[in-house]
Amino acid sequence: MKMTPGVLIIGALLVFWASAFIIAGLPAATMKEKPSDIWRPLTAEEEAGHRLYVANGCSYCHSLFIRINDWDIGAERIAQAGDYVGQEPIILGSERTGPDLSQEGGEHPDDWHLAHFTNPRYTSPISLMPSWEFLGRQEVRQLTAYVQALGLKAADYRTARQKYWKQQASAAYAAGPDANVEWIHSQVPEVWRRMPNPYPADAAALARGKRMYQDFCVNCHGPIGDGQGPAAAYLYPPPLNFTTLRRHLVENRYIGGIFYYQIMNGITGTAMPYFKKHLESEKIWDLANYLGVYFVGYTDANIEPRGIDAAYEGPWQNPYQPPAKGAK
Ligand code: HEC
Ligand code: HEC
Repeated sequence: MKMTPGVLIIGALLVFWASAFIIAGLPAATMKEKPSDIWRPLTAEEEAGHRLYVANGCSYCHSLFIRINDWDIGAERIAQAGDYVGQEPIILGSERTGPDLSQEGGEHPDDWHLAHFTNPRYTSPISLMPSWEFLGRQEVRQLTAYVQALGLKAADYRTARQKYWKQQASAAYAAGPDANVEWIHSQVPEVWRRMPNPYPADAAALARGKRMYQDFCVNCHGPIGDGQGPAAAYLYPPPLNFTTLRRHLVENRYIGGIFYYQIMNGITGTAMPYFKKHLESEKIWDLANYLGVYFVGYTDANIEPRGIDAAYEGPWQNPYQPPAKGAK
């Protein structure tokens, strides 16, 4: 065959179409991803939130794809291709200035998100996420609906649990401060209620407690622990006022285990988040000592049964002794 310009052009076009078919056409025709076990379509409001997520560049700081090597919120379920069927556009993001959000739905109740989108520092005092208050209440509601849907059916399961416990917690709060505290404490397992703080509340521990309180708690529970931080205006039930706890706790004497359990797990249904992924064990005990000493007026640190002191602990006598039973 003679290499005329016509043959050359037809040959080049054939090569082009063949490679286009192999690279793009074949995969598009055969690689239809099937919906995963947790998949469901987004509602209109969630879809509107998804568009806001894309338009406002949330993916510059957040990913929507949690991998087997991650140890983050949502790592209970590794992301799968089938989770994203029907999303347009699919923007998974590769930056993690903020946490991965692929299983964000149901991590917090809606009121937490309202406070957080209004000003992230209300709920997370050292956050560098920008405020989205300028979007207005309706768009913040749509964004909230979208982040509550992240995780799809797995998220629905968690949001249903948040809603169930929100009802219980709101009813307890409406019954008055004493009934509320009694209800919250009755949800803490007996073994934790009867556990004293095993760590001394020495100067270094209290300084660590204070630092963490400023970094994680202060804008909800307030600088003096009265529950009047700036987030309170957005939350129902509002953050607990620690200064009302004393009369409940003196009957019990022990206080450290109750605090530890609640700080570790959060209180589902309320804005109180869990901290077991942010803070390791000793830091949670330090916080419990800090709340006890500064906001309640005593700590059960190192009282009987105290166990064996850890090797690194110095000699320490508890100067913040729990009051005797029946004391005010
Ligand atoms: C400049 C980076 C940045 C941008 C942009 C950003 N975030 Fe964040 N985001 C963060 C950081 C950091 C955190 C962790 C601290 C906190 O809770 O605020 C966070 C936390 C969150 C959380 C809470 C996660 C949890 O359960 O603790 C949600 C939900 C969230 N962002 C949603 C969004 C949405 C929706 C957008 C876009 C409208 C957005 N973020 C834009 C940095 C960012
Ligand atoms: C986003 C707001 C928010 C943040 C941040 C927050 N809390 Fe809470 N906290 C709450 C709410 C809301 C409650 C429950 C109020 C209710 O149900 O009456 C609560 C309850 C508690 C309780 C239960 C007290 C009791 O005796 O029953 C403890 C302890 C507590 N918080 C400690 C902390 C600590 C420590 C931090 C920081 C590491 C923290 N909280 C951060 C909102 C918050």
